Amino acid sequence: METFSLFFLALSVSVAGLLPFLSTATSGFYVDLIHRDSPLSPSYDSSSTPVSRLRASFHRSRGRAAYFLRAANRTTDIHSKIFPNNYEYLMTISIGTPPIKTLAIVDTGSDLIWLQCTPCNQCYTQLSPLFDPTASSSYNTVPCSDSACTALPQYGDCSSKSNCNYQYSYGDGSYVIGELATETFSFDSIPNQQVNVPNILFGCTHESQGTFDKKGAGLVGLAGGQLSLITQLGDAVKNKFSYCLPPLNNNSITGRINFGTKAVVSGPDAVITDLIHSDTENFFFLNLERISVAGDSEAIAFKSYQNGSQEEGNIIIDSGTTLTIIGDDILQSLITKLSTVVKLPQVSDPQEMFSLCFDVSRVERIEDGNIPNITFHFYGADVVLKPLNAFMNLDERTLCLAMISNAGIGDTSIFGNVAQQNFNIAYDLSAMKLTLEPADCTG
Ligand SMILES: *[C@@H]1O[C@H](CO)[C@@H](O)[C@H](O)[C@H]1NC(C)=O
Ligand SMILES: *[C@@H]1O[C@H](CO)[C@@H](O)[C@H](O)[C@H]1NC(C)=O
Ligand SMILES: *[C@@H]1O[C@H](CO)[C@@H](O)[C@H](O)[C@H]1NC(C)=O
Ligand SMILES: *[C@@H]1O[C@H](CO)[C@@H](O)[C@H](O)[C@H]1NC(C)=O
Repeated sequence: METFSLFFLALSVSVAGLLPFLSTATSGFYVDLIHRDSPLSPSYDSSSTPVSRLRASFHRSRGRAAYFLRAANRTTDIHSKIFPNNYEYLMTISIGTPPIKTLAIVDTGSDLIWLQCTPCNQCYTQLSPLFDPTASSSYNTVPCSDSACTALPQYGDCSSKSNCNYQYSYGDGSYVIGELATETFSFDSIPNQQVNVPNILFGCTHESQGTFDKKGAGLVGLAGGQLSLITQLGDAVKNKFSYCLPPLNNNSITGRINFGTKAVVSGPDAVITDLIHSDTENFFFLNLERISVAGDSEAIAFKSYQNGSQEEGNIIIDSGTTLTIIGDDILQSLITKLSTVVKLPQVSDPQEMFSLCFDVSRVERIEDGNIPNITFHFYGADVVLKPLNAFMNLDERTLCLAMISNAGIGDTSIFGNVAQQNFNIAYDLSAMKLTLEPADCTG
């Protein structure tokens, strides 16, 4: 499927419906992001420990890399490969008239927005009430003949009813079945002011089965395809969004995703690189030229960089992957460099997930120069990763490099969300530019 052209088609399709709302949204709007391990998340497991959470994130990160690899393989059906429990953030969405507030999983790797709706006879259990379309005056079904219906990767039975039905399945056998509809979504703008966006396409799920998590009432797709929230908002938000992810070690703080004029990032420390929309799939690549440690002039050249060619990126930027994933040879070079620079005693991870760990039991503050900065030199943008962005505590005395090898799962590289913490990261999908600016995302 030619998703790239669909992407632009979608922009023109959605504009007509959203124009009336443009004038009210001049200041842009935002949505809070809640980390899955945050005490604010209904899923919060108070018995979990930093170690168990970090180890779980290792498996999720590898799972996502494998997903992206399969997605990039034109011969397989990408939409069926996502594992629904493999996510990092939840967001609050308000939907319907009058608006109902609910919590949904954020997925930057898929497109369809869906919620469980009444009647739901065979559905996974969720913590919040089901969405009742009959109680909303702005709910409308979508006919089979609508072009939006054919944008669904697998659209179900269109013969018995004239409404557009979907059957959307996931890599582990989980699935959702329902009808495609349009609704009004409400977002926070300036404090105490809501912006209503009519005619957002979403799936009203009436049947589901599989590994869905009871904390999410549904899922919001933020990838680059036609049905994703970002693409549907399109011109109305000037094709711009940004997010700021607070440090995971202080995860009671919510992050934020901004749309429209709120999503413009500029400042003396902002750097800009090209965003590359893969022509086969809906996620975003960057071009990483090299990696350096503590300003070392002998930087590590990143694989398959096409000497200035911007046609293909070599690393995916993904907020839904925790760890940064790079080629094994690059990781080994990085470990060699860090081993000579860092003077702390090395310890090994008993489970061998992490290849480089240090004993920090005698260190008061890792910020005080014990751990060097690592710079990712993207095309036109040097991004300085502080210890917070490159290392995570396995336990109180053990600090490990939060970057892992893609050995055994193909050659996909991912710039993960630990690396993105405390940066304002702005996507301009018209200019296809990504701006990164160091920030304090706890504020
Ligand atoms: C792509 O998919 C085909 C068919 O399933 C498979 O044979 C091939 O190994 C896959 N390639 C990669 C790189 O995964
Ligand atoms: C977490 O963030 C809050 C608010 O910024 C701050 O007051 C608190 O000290 C932080 N806690 C840690 C452990 O950093
Ligand atoms: C790479 O680009 C630089 C600058 O444009 C050029 O001088 C160099 O010859 C190129 N190298 C290769 C291998 O093409
Ligand atoms: C790391 O980078 C930050 C921001 O650029 C800088 O303030 C800090 O001094 C650097 N730390 C070291 C150890 O070089």
